[in-house]
This record gives sequence, structure tokens and C-alpha cells, in this order.
Amino acid sequence: MIPLMKNAFLNEHETKKALAEFILKADRLSMDAECLKFERKFSEHQGRKESILFNSGGSANLAMLQALKNLGRLKDGDRVGFSALTWSTNTMPIIQMGMVPVALDCDVNTLNVMSHHLEERLKQVDLQALFLTNVLGFTGDIERVRDLCASRGIILIEDNCESLGTVLPSGKAGNFGVAASFSFFVAHHMSTIEGGMVCTDDQDLAEMLRIVRANGWDRNLTAVQQHKWRKRYDIHSEFQAKYTFYDLGFNLRPTEITGFLGQFQMQFLDANIQSRERNYLRLEQIMTKNPDLVLLRHEHITTLSTFAVPVVCKTPELRDHYLARFAGAGIEIRPMIAGNMQRQPFYEKYVKEKYDLPGTDFVHSNGFYCGNYPELSETDLETIGGCLYPL
Ligand SMILES: Cc1ncc(COP(=O)(O)O)c(C=O)c1O
Repeated sequence: MIPLMKNAFLNEHETKKALAEFILKADRLSMDAECLKFERKFSEHQGRKESILFNSGGSANLAMLQALKNLGRLKDGDRVGFSALTWSTNTMPIIQMGMVPVALDCDVNTLNVMSHHLEERLKQVDLQALFLTNVLGFTGDIERVRDLCASRGIILIEDNCESLGTVLPSGKAGNFGVAASFSFFVAHHMSTIEGGMVCTDDQDLAEMLRIVRANGWDRNLTAVQQHKWRKRYDIHSEFQAKYTFYDLGFNLRPTEITGFLGQFQMQFLDANIQSRERNYLRLEQIMTKNPDLVLLRHEHITTLSTFAVPVVCKTPELRDHYLARFAGAGIEIRPMIAGNMQRQPFYEKYVKEKYDLPGTDFVHSNGFYCGNYPELSETDLETIGGCLYPL
């Protein structure tokens, strides 16, 4: 069996041992210094001013929209474009926040929304924001998407939960929008078991994200920020401040275990990404020579950081054959994330406006993926490679 992932952590034994020691010695396990240290380390790695740690990538997505709403940059009824090929908790927060999701198609060769898809949609509707997913380590022509958003006053937010470590000549995936989310769920690039992050250079947004993360209070802000909020609302005592709630929030806090694991796993991150890229490029050599499969393009990407090997067949019948082949070889597989989101039951229930999405429909019917991680052995890679030859 080749599962989607083999371990909860890279260097599993070493990590679990260090975690056990940390827990035994720790005075406190609820969110505190370890979370802050991980946030600082992650900001440095990503090249962003601020990182805010959450208990999941989905929480990070929800918090970004709530924070933008609290700041008055988005409001009820605003139209938010999103990549129709994405994960449920990218799209659900748009609905949960009382905004209107507008699906954008993807290109079958990059798996991503391209600027021409955005241009086409903007001929039909205005968008106040675009919540763009960088799909499975790949990106579209994200520089042009960013420029188009800037010229039309559209707030660009990235869901980078699937593309930590992907680099383009013009910057790291996750650094193109006002903010980006990351996921540290076990099956993703770097694991804290569950966990997520938002990175941004926008100090006001970072401050609001810290309010949204923890009940709407000011406890996790700097002294200067606390002073500002307390003055604005006439809060004169520390006693009163403890239970004053300034704006809408949730409890989306991580624990010190998340903070510790994040820092510990970061020491392996660069090698981890390199190893995943090496695996993918090796398997790609087989896929590019297979006429049954669609060629996935990434010439515009300098480092392709994937946690999966996406496979797009040319027809649904071919996919049936390849699915049977992978299953027969004991390789765990998944659909191409949520496929066309418009076809998901929750979407049908809550959203009236539907759009034509030929590219996403194609990937929905013809795509699947298996896992890609550093622990894949030579034999595993040969088994996966063996399934990628023409039928
Ligand atoms: C694009 C995308 N966004 C958000 C998430 C949610 O991340 P998490 O599982 O950490 O909540 C995922 C998870 O797979 C994802 O693929």
C-alpha cells in the first residue's frame, strides 16, 4: 500500500520524541510564546511582515474574510471570485460571511485560474475580492491576475494551503495578495497535525486577524495596539479590558503544541520541498510521454512544491482505467480536490448563480491524484511510475 502520506511528521520519531519532552517540561500549553516564535520564523521564511497562527487552514480562510469585513473593506452582499477548483473551506467562508461566491474557471494545463478567466468573468459581473487558490503546488499567471485586480480595485487574497514553497520569478506563492492562508494539516507540506497560518504585510489586517482569532478581544495585541482600542472604547481598567470584545471573532486559536511542532518541522522544510519537487519531476518524465494524459505546465514556476501527483486523463473512460490501475497497485488516490465546486451539495443549496466552467468540469471528470512526500521509497516511486505508462 502507498498511502496519501506515511507519517504525521517528517522525521517522525525525532519529532515525537522532541514533542514529548516539550510537553513534559512546558508550564503552559494554551497559545503563548511557542506560537509567537513559530509565527516569527514563518514570516522570515515566507518573506512577509506578519504571520498569524490558526488551528487550521480552513480557520485561516474564515478569519481572513471576517477580518476584512470587520475592517469595512468587504461587506454583506459583496461578490467574491474564487477558483472553482479548490477546497470546500475556501468557498464556504464566502457564504458564511454573507457574501456572494462567483466561480472562476481553471486552465486544464495549469489547474489554476488564469488572468483571461478573470477578464471574462469581469465582463459579466463586478468583483470586490478574488479569493484565489494556488492549486496543488501549481499557479496560474498570478502576476497578471494581481495586476488586473489592482487596476480594477479588487482585493486579492490567496489560499496557498496547497502551495507552500512554490516560487515564481516574481516571488513566492502566497505573497501576491494582501494576505494568504497556509495549512499544516498532516497531508500537506509541513505538519503540525492540524494548523494554519495567515501571512500579510498589512499591519491593520494582522491586528484584526489577532482579534478575530480570539473571541474579539485585544489580549494578543501589542501594548500600543491595546491602548488604541481601549482609548477608542473608554476602557480604563485592566479588569474591564480582560472581557471587552471589540469586533466579531471566533475561537480559532492554536495551542503551544502547534507552535512547537511548527518550529521543529521548519528545520526540515527546505529539504522537504526539494525532495517533493524531485519526486514530481521524476514522475513527470513518464507522464509527458504518455498520450493518454494532459500535460501539466509549470515553465513559469521556479520551484514547484507539491504534496500530490496530479494526473489529468484525456477522457473519463481513460481515468476509469487509470483509477483501476492505481487501486490495483495499492496506491491511495483522491479526486482532484473538490472538483467543480458548483456541483457540491452545499453549493447547490446556498448559491443561485452558476457559471459555465468547461476547464474545471474537464478536471472534475478526468483528474485524480496520489500522494507525493519525502518518505516515498525508490520502490514506491517505481510503482507509481509504473502506473503512469500508457495503457
Ligand atoms: C485549498 C485549500 N484550502 C484550505 C484547506 C483547509 O486546510 P485545513 O485542512 O488545514 O483546514 C485545504 C485543505 O486541504 C485546501 O486544500
